[in-house]
Amino acid sequence: MEKLKQRILKDGQVRNGEVLKVDSFLNHQMDIDLLDEIGAEFQRLFQDENITKILTIEASGIAIACMTARHFHVPVVFAKKAKSLNLDGELYTSKVHSFTYDRDYDITVSKKFIQSDDRILIIDDFMANGKAMDGLIDICHQAHAQVAGIGICIEKGFQGGGDRLRKEGYRLESLAIVESMEPGHIVFR
Ligand code: G4P
Ligand code: NA
Ligand code: NA
Repeated sequence: MEKLKQRILKDGQVRNGEVLKVDSFLNHQMDIDLLDEIGAEFQRLFQDENITKILTIEASGIAIACMTARHFHVPVVFAKKAKSLNLDGELYTSKVHSFTYDRDYDITVSKKFIQSDDRILIIDDFMANGKAMDGLIDICHQAHAQVAGIGICIEKGFQGGGDRLRKEGYRLESLAIVESMEPGHIVFR
């Protein structure tokens, strides 16, 4: 998506080699007109997939998922980063390892909100190693729901998560794939 790439070049900042800061327009302050165009682009890409639900993960996936759902007219469910115990088994849970933060955490989704006849579009702002995505996919599988597509705003191609998931057979569309980056110099695939 040319407009997103241009915005990354204009306002994105590369930190410590591997972190791209886009908090002036995507995941802290949010440019809602841009997010609306991102949502429209995901709708264009996945319009033939009979999407019944959009799944994302808190926190920064939520806004993008909501702006996308506006174009699909389907509900959004967001996985929570677990703080409470799954005592009575009413939650799907999956363990995620974050390389960025070097820690494990659990994500949860209530069993009420994903059904076996759902065709799920998973949306997130970033794809790095893809571990959070693995957790979301695992939860869809536990619910016997179909992962009909994965939509990512910014994929860091050099971290490999996106290509691994494509190889596994998922239909993954990223609106911008960063192939390499250093301060003042970002190269897209
Ligand atoms: P992975 O899921 O792809 O393996 O990624 P990782 O655990 O390394 O990412 C941890 C968090 O950092 C995720 O946010 C992810 O969206 C975000 N992230 C990864 N790379 C970048 C980057 O280059 N720039 C920015 N701005 N964020 C990045 P999260 O833990 O889900 O937190 P939240 O911000 O959504 O609450
Ligand atoms: Na994030
Ligand atoms: Na995220």
